[in-house]
Amino acid sequence: MTKNKIDFVDLGVINKKYKAKYFNLLKKIYDGSTFIKSKYNSILEKQICKIFKCKYSLCVNSGTDALIIAIKSLGLGNGDEILTTSNTWISSAYAISLNNCKPVFVDISEKYLQIDESLLKKKLTKKTKAIMVTHLYGNPSKMDYICNFAKKYKLFIIEDIAQSQLASYKNKFVGNFGDIACMSFYPSKNIGAVGDGGAIICNSKKLIHKATNFANYGSTNFKDKDHKIVGFNSRMDEFQAAFLNLKIKDLKKNNHIRKKLAKIYDKKCDTLGIRRIHVMPQADSAYYVYPIIVKKRNLLMREFKKNDISSQIHYEIPIHLQTAYKNTNKKDLKITEQVSKNILSLPFYPGIKKKQIERIFKVIQKNKVLI
Ligand SMILES: Cc1ncc(COP(=O)(O)O)c(C=O)c1O
Repeated sequence: MTKNKIDFVDLGVINKKYKAKYFNLLKKIYDGSTFIKSKYNSILEKQICKIFKCKYSLCVNSGTDALIIAIKSLGLGNGDEILTTSNTWISSAYAISLNNCKPVFVDISEKYLQIDESLLKKKLTKKTKAIMVTHLYGNPSKMDYICNFAKKYKLFIIEDIAQSQLASYKNKFVGNFGDIACMSFYPSKNIGAVGDGGAIICNSKKLIHKATNFANYGSTNFKDKDHKIVGFNSRMDEFQAAFLNLKIKDLKKNNHIRKKLAKIYDKKCDTLGIRRIHVMPQADSAYYVYPIIVKKRNLLMREFKKNDISSQIHYEIPIHLQTAYKNTNKKDLKITEQVSKNILSLPFYPGIKKKQIERIFKVIQKNKVLI
């Protein structure tokens, strides 16, 4: 790493604070030899419920697993259709397909880049059973409208809060609007682990019981000899749970830092005339990443690279244009396709220095023709 390099996310900086405490815990865990279904897991599940203001939570192996298990717990399958977005990480579609359901992609709004709720009705068929709402980039979707719509047409709501931990809409945390919600603890997430991890949250005892079964070989009890349902293994190990117990305590504080940083970025974008993503009125974003929309993305990325600045694309190929989804609906996804060509995420994380932010925007200013 060169001295002046600006990382997209610097996990060394973000996780530095936990190192000494975690290394102490590692020794205890190693000597304790529990490893799976440990006290650290139950403490983490309790902390999640308290912080996210939900009744139940279950820690699993990844955000992808959480989504797969959530759909399974709702009893969906057999070609049931789930309305969702194509501009997101591919896991959401995989979770739908792996449950023998069909993802039906709905376009996003130009201003917020979230599911365009006004288009939901057009995609509705007799087979539609659920809406999977991904609050992307930390930004909440219009949940009052979506909840009313789901109620009217008797649809389940699965919320993907992988990128929006503690984002809120009308003073309610996302993840609490639907039937079940899933999050990821992928290292760069607002609460990132030191490996893979995920969690399911909900307010239904029945659903969390089903999810717990699925995630533990089809039984709730470690010692069960008779397995009642077909399940698999998606348990979070003790090493991740112990780390997350330390980090989750700082989630609110870190989100606050992200919000303050986003205000600085917003101001700079507005001054330079850079197209940015807006947060809906009455919503509070978790600011997972900071994307902008530019005219000549590849050239701007090249300029960043020349200046030792990392940038990333979220997401370059929409799901409906991925080879794995060559047979899905491709119609009416104009904004999704436009955005995928022009979106670019800037380096952004708690701990990034003012000096570094100045340098990022100086490069943009110097290359104004590209935005
Ligand atoms: C929106 C979204 N959903 C689902 C996932 C999948 O989570 P995981 O990587 O933990 O499987 C991710 C990310 O990594 C994500 O960003």
